[in-house]
Amino acid sequence: MATSIVLNFFLLCLLLFSASPTLSASNELPKTGFITLPVKKDPATNQYYTSIGIGTPNHKLNLAIDLAGEFLWYDCDTRYNSSSYLPVPCDTQKCPQNSPCIGCNGFPTKPGCTNNTCGLSITNPFADTIFSGDMGEDLLHIPQIKVPRSFASGCADSDRFSTPLLVGLAKGTKGILGLARSQLSLPTQISSSYNVPPKFTLCLPSSNTKGTGKIFIGGRPSSRANVARIGFALTSSEEYFINVKSIMVDDKVVNFDTSLLSLDKNGNGGTKISTLGTPYTVLHNSIYKPFVRDFVKKASDRKIKRVKSVAPFEACFDAGSIDDLDMGPAVPVIELLFDGGLKYEMFGHNTMVEVKEKVLCLAFVDGGKKAKNAVVLGGRQLEDKILEFDLSTSILTFSSSLLLQGETCSDPVLN
Ligand SMILES: *[C@@H]1O[C@H](CO)[C@@H](O)[C@H](O)[C@H]1NC(C)=O
Ligand SMILES: *[C@@H]1O[C@H](CO)[C@@H](O)[C@H](O)[C@H]1NC(C)=O
Repeated sequence: MATSIVLNFFLLCLLLFSASPTLSASNELPKTGFITLPVKKDPATNQYYTSIGIGTPNHKLNLAIDLAGEFLWYDCDTRYNSSSYLPVPCDTQKCPQNSPCIGCNGFPTKPGCTNNTCGLSITNPFADTIFSGDMGEDLLHIPQIKVPRSFASGCADSDRFSTPLLVGLAKGTKGILGLARSQLSLPTQISSSYNVPPKFTLCLPSSNTKGTGKIFIGGRPSSRANVARIGFALTSSEEYFINVKSIMVDDKVVNFDTSLLSLDKNGNGGTKISTLGTPYTVLHNSIYKPFVRDFVKKASDRKIKRVKSVAPFEACFDAGSIDDLDMGPAVPVIELLFDGGLKYEMFGHNTMVEVKEKVLCLAFVDGGKKAKNAVVLGGRQLEDKILEFDLSTSILTFSSSLLLQGETCSDPVLN
């Protein structure tokens, strides 16, 4: 108890110190060497979103976090304007090759309505269409950086489309913070502006009850949690794939055709990591079936009582028959295995979801027989872990559950 008071006092001093104006009133990164953004989880959609300020005046925007997104984009609807916005002209070096050139018949000029502007394809994974947007530069307001530089992003005017631009996104979000392996992504731009490594770390929260999760860009605080490092499986896709070799439930290898786990150069098959639209890991049907069978068997060995399925989950259990441990419900342990004996371990906190009173379900869903990927590792299975994506080395550093240290991603400061 005494040590934790001392520790909290120390953290408070750290917070006060880092908030002092002398440190933040420069065009530099904070003393820590990295940027910290908050992450919240929307209870209705289970989406993770961050808050960032853009333009002049400072528009505070909530943006959904998407590992598959190539850049940051936001809704610049009829009411949106910014005096510091600069459209990126067509045929300039900043404009990605083969981009369309966009004009606008409206007047006066505003973000989303300028002539000779570099066009960007704006993607919302919940919309069945691709929106046409503008590439522009504007100020980005990040809490720790007082005088931000110009960052390139995309903007699209939701009032101009028949399909709602923000369809499916958590209520109150105005766009997407894309974090893919791309030249336009925020970590890549911050890396070149501030001379820090092009890397970011996700620490996704499991709830919003005490504090927020974090994204760290350029570096991260150290952690006592054990970490392992694996290389990304590189494809033409800018998304993040990892080479899972097998899956285990309570030390038993799940039996399925492992050729499903191999990834082709276009991003088919394999194991992808996803933060948007995948609140629970999705398994190809040929993996899901034996996986659930093995989990149910191992659960029954532990005297856990199965109850009726609750869609979209197949394996549900009577919570009364499951012990509650620090790592969540005491259910069979699930592990993704990589070469070299490395494993991504998941205890009850990352594998179970309470669907109603006294009913816990295995939080994995069936992707069907035509699933594009064998495994899409999603939300619940990523929470309260450190996941560092290094774009220069193409290495993913992941930790065991922070709960092993008695911590969560929502704790005020990782230490
Ligand atoms: C947007 O702001 C710019 C610069 O302040 C101004 O010139 C322009 O008229 C404004 N556009 C609208 C639609 O209000
Ligand atoms: C773009 O150019 C067209 C044609 O010259 C003009 O009518 C329109 O007002 C311009 N739009 C803006 C936003 O300046």
